[in-house]
Amino acid sequence: MNTVLVGSQWGDEGKGKIIDFLMETHDAVVRSQGGNNAGHTVEVGSEKFVLHLVPSGILRKGKLCLIGHGTVIDPGSLVKEIQGLESRGVKTLGRLFVSDRAHVVMPYHRHLDAGRETAAKGKMIGTTKRGIGPTYGDKIARTGLRMHDLLDEAALAEKIKERVKEVNQFCRLKGWETVSATRILKEYRAAAQILKPYITDTIAKVHELLEKKKSMLFEGAQGTFLDIDCGTYPYVTSSNTTSGGACTGSGLPPNQVHEVIGTLKAYTTRVGEGPFATESPELSDRLHEMGREFGATTGRARRCGWFDAVLVRFATRINGVTQLALTNLDGLDGVKEIRVCVAYKLAGKTLHYPPASIEALARCQPVYKKFPGWLSDTSGCQSFSDLPAQAREYLKALEKLSGAKLSIVSVGPRLPRPFSHEN
Ligand code: GDP
Ligand code: IMO
Ligand code: MG
Repeated sequence: MNTVLVGSQWGDEGKGKIIDFLMETHDAVVRSQGGNNAGHTVEVGSEKFVLHLVPSGILRKGKLCLIGHGTVIDPGSLVKEIQGLESRGVKTLGRLFVSDRAHVVMPYHRHLDAGRETAAKGKMIGTTKRGIGPTYGDKIARTGLRMHDLLDEAALAEKIKERVKEVNQFCRLKGWETVSATRILKEYRAAAQILKPYITDTIAKVHELLEKKKSMLFEGAQGTFLDIDCGTYPYVTSSNTTSGGACTGSGLPPNQVHEVIGTLKAYTTRVGEGPFATESPELSDRLHEMGREFGATTGRARRCGWFDAVLVRFATRINGVTQLALTNLDGLDGVKEIRVCVAYKLAGKTLHYPPASIEALARCQPVYKKFPGWLSDTSGCQSFSDLPAQAREYLKALEKLSGAKLSIVSVGPRLPRPFSHEN
């Protein structure tokens, strides 16, 4: 059975924790989009791991981990991540496979990402500055380098020289510092030496696993509203974070997807700029004071707000979500009155799905339904029936509003394990 897991909000829904749990029933895990802009947290006992590009399943012994061709790879950063895992006793060689077709993040992509953000002043996107947008830009413009280029020294030197020439013309135009092809080549050659044994045809691997009837978990990065097409454009990332991205970014045929799990928080968070109808400074302050909701990649404080069922309903619809996995219910433990946005009001009309334009979205007024808080600690609950009655009511309402079966509930970053209605 193959499962696609996506974020149903703006990322950071707790995908890492849910993936770690689901690895008990899957043989392999596959990343198919995004890059090291992702930060997936897995806490095991007293240890905390934050995975950026390496799939979260790497912490489970014997499981295969694939980084598919739809991702963008910063070789230096991937080397660091692999070495960090190895130094903590996590074996990667022979378990981790990196696509030879994936595009390479170059130093000038990071340069351009940061430069654009600085130049945008009041209109910045709030990117992670990992060079993700410019790398996907080059991919679409057909001027990018791919991982197989790292394996061919002569071709690599030629391609870097050619690209740097054009990049430097642009830098001069902007009055920015230029980049050195020689320095880049030296750095990328060194990284290539380390990555060589990992680089392979991951499409062939996916199909080998299909033939052997192994089950794969496709680990989505970011979330539905950061999707380049369906998100709050232009305040989005540069890949398809929705379920279709799992197929286009890995070679998995769409008819081999059996379940789509939508992960969501019991409230909403967002890092970076862009409209956020249910944002609540009070809820943000509360969660930050508890030491929660700081970005796993950049450390930035996440913006927090009430659960937005308009967004999640849309996410369920376009991803084909068959099951929901809800995390961070315990974040609402001390909240007296909890709000849920059930619809938007825009120019006298009631909307049940978000509008395309962010200007319209910014004008939407959330229609709230209020729920009484449970005002007790849920972090020790081990089953649905352990939860206070108000929490159960809250979850039932979210399930109905979101349009899919709620099958996993999580109340802590590590154990207790997530549970469902059935237990
Ligand atoms: P991801 O990007 O979707 O994998 O999510 P992140 O790792 O960026 O952020 C989720 C945060 O919530 C991490 O700090 C997790 O350890 C934490 N987390 C996940 N599930 C729960 C939960 O049920 N309760 C609490 N308290 N923390 C959780
Ligand atoms: P995970 O996988 C939350 C956001 C950035 C910014 C926008 C564009 O951990 O859920 P980018 O660097 O991708 O060009 O930035 O997307 N963003 C994320 N927000 N979680 C993520 O990943 C994110 N990856 C990118 O903050 O608003
Ligand atoms: Mg994250």
